[in-house]
Amino acid sequence: MKKAVFPGSFDPITKGHEAIVLQSLSLFDEIIIAVGVNINKKYAFPLEQRLQWIKQVFAGYSQVSVLSFDGLTVDLCRKIDERFILRGLRFSGDFEYESLMAEANKKLNPEVETVFMLADPSLRCVSSTLVRDIVKNGGSVVKFVPEQVKITI
Ligand code: PNS
Repeated sequence: MKKAVFPGSFDPITKGHEAIVLQSLSLFDEIIIAVGVNINKKYAFPLEQRLQWIKQVFAGYSQVSVLSFDGLTVDLCRKIDERFILRGLRFSGDFEYESLMAEANKKLNPEVETVFMLADPSLRCVSSTLVRDIVKNGGSVVKFVPEQVKITI
């Protein structure tokens, strides 16, 4: 059975993340969405809220589960005996950053392989950063987040 870990902040989960998970189900039998907890990072939404949204988005998918983790993604992979890390790519800027992260992760744990899924062009502009900015400025994010993500300000 092929499984992959999809790490991220998911602050909040977007339609882009949702699409990457759904696309990757054609490659993997199981996806574990791993919400990173970095004590030095300030998140806009509490961890419990971020986890709950993800659970709601994938409630109909028994192949998708969610957990939170701190420390290195490769250590999580070791702990839960996974060798594939899943990440999405939207444009060349993502590639620059993501390829370096994949290389670093491989140096940290040579058994871990990062698999990239190309985002649908219609979702290229979608990011959690953008969502947070729209929310902060009183705009509607319905086109950017899954319908289960209800953000009230
Ligand atoms: O959604 P994000 O902010 O792009 O997710 C970043 C995340 C959680 C994938 C990244 O910060 C991460 O991997 N954190 C765990 C710490 C780690 O493994 N760092 C080394 C990467 S080379």
